[in-house]
Amino acid sequence: MKRIKALLLSAVMMFSLTACNNAEQTSQENTQTESAPYRESGTSEQISAPSSDNSDISNTQQEVTMPDNFVLIKGGTFEMGSPKTEAWRSNDETQHTVTVSDFYMSVYELTQAEYREITGESPSNFSGDELPVENVSWLDAVRFCNAISKKENLSPAYVIDGNSVTWDRSADGYRLPTEAEWEYACRAGTTTPFNTESSMSAEEANYYGHYPYEIEDNYFSQENLTTKPGQYRQTTVAVNSFFPNKYGLYNMHGNVGEWVWDYYGEYGNEEQTDPVGAENGTLRVYRGGGWNDFAKNMRSAYRAALAEDKGSFNIGIRLVRNAVKGSGSIVSEGAQNIGGSGNKVLIAFFSWGGNTRGIAEEIRSQTDADIFEIELVHPYSSDYNTVLDEAQRDQNQQARPEIKNKVENIEQYDTIILGYPNWWASIPMPIATFLEEYELSEKTIVPFCSHGGGRFGQSLTAIAKLTPDSAMGEALSIHYSGGSSMPSDVAEWLKTNNIT
Ligand SMILES: Cc1cc2nc3c(=O)[nH]c(=O)nc-3n(C[C@H](O)[C@H](O)[C@H](O)COP(=O)(O)O)c2cc1C
Repeated sequence: MKRIKALLLSAVMMFSLTACNNAEQTSQENTQTESAPYRESGTSEQISAPSSDNSDISNTQQEVTMPDNFVLIKGGTFEMGSPKTEAWRSNDETQHTVTVSDFYMSVYELTQAEYREITGESPSNFSGDELPVENVSWLDAVRFCNAISKKENLSPAYVIDGNSVTWDRSADGYRLPTEAEWEYACRAGTTTPFNTESSMSAEEANYYGHYPYEIEDNYFSQENLTTKPGQYRQTTVAVNSFFPNKYGLYNMHGNVGEWVWDYYGEYGNEEQTDPVGAENGTLRVYRGGGWNDFAKNMRSAYRAALAEDKGSFNIGIRLVRNAVKGSGSIVSEGAQNIGGSGNKVLIAFFSWGGNTRGIAEEIRSQTDADIFEIELVHPYSSDYNTVLDEAQRDQNQQARPEIKNKVENIEQYDTIILGYPNWWASIPMPIATFLEEYELSEKTIVPFCSHGGGRFGQSLTAIAKLTPDSAMGEALSIHYSGGSSMPSDVAEWLKTNNIT
């Protein structure tokens, strides 16, 4: 790979300025290693910007090579999250002031060729050297970071022991961006939902182009839409496609979502410097949306999340490296084995038109599990155009429609097979009511989704966020009623989940 060389100053440069702080940090670090997990934010030493007046400090200059597709993202302060006025925002995008230090970021998503060269593996759902690698889990992503660091004689950023991953913030190797770094880089100074400062068209990003921003509430009369529906490519595209953002970064919106370091959790509303996410959790965040996402789900502030051992055709990797030497370590224990150990199964589903019901009944015939259909106190209209409107309004307001019936003794079940139609690229809100109504922690949720072409959309993120203390099994998406292969598809999927 062609490389440019950047002359960086080593950490010694700042020694005289930070000596007192360092003494404090060292004792803090010593305690912290014993009481894992811990978080620390913000302490860092500048190694990237050569000082113009460094005559009185002891400098050791070090040659650091940076791949030519990496750019220096100059740090700064920005408003992370979305303003309350932003259409289709979620409550977990609380706006707050964040400062990030300088870092280097790849202008491209990691390609399949780059992934294969290091790992020998081709996990992607689509195939092409210049397409982004996808179908990689968060754990695959951190393993990849270490493998490429080792190959290039850099110090690995992560100590990986099974599911437990410790990030050594001082390492100069490749790593995932933090969620804050990712959003800062994506926004490139913008404060709008997308970094183009206007609603993105399918000529500007690779997403589910039939569904541009705000299509949901303008579906029947589109004259108010600034961006009209465009092409849905149904595949990833080469990582250098479209125009880059103001920092030179390609495809921060769309193509594939990108894993970041952080556990998913509330990020609060206090001012922060170099935050690293929730202290613990079960889900990792990925950002930016992908080829299969509606525009609302590739906004700069949108937060997607999935278990760290799961991959998807919609999620890839973008690498970063320190430009500023961080300090301390971030210990994460990894998701514990939270799935139920027995195998008493309940099939719970919501269906509007009958497709999901048909699949649920097929599952019952193959498993003999108990079955529960979610019914509403105020059912949706039976008219298609009306339900489209009702459903988008419910989703926009994060409504919780009241459920009329009850599951008896939910505690007896270890596994909940959860069925629903894809509604506006997510779950119907009755599924959210159901998930909040019952105590499902420690149980395994196995989703299946009937859809009209959008597969899961962001429904798995929605379920994961509502049930962070449950395990998620392998999910199944079925086109409408599933056709003649549905019974065998169901049989195979039940086996994969060890249900039959
Ligand atoms: C309100 C509403 C919204 C929908 N949104 C989507 C969507 O975003 N993506 C998709 O692939 N299909 C969408 N569909 C199609 C349904 O997911 C699909 O027809 C499914 O098979 C319906 O299942 P059911 O018959 O159990 O209700 C939508 C249907 C309705 C009624």
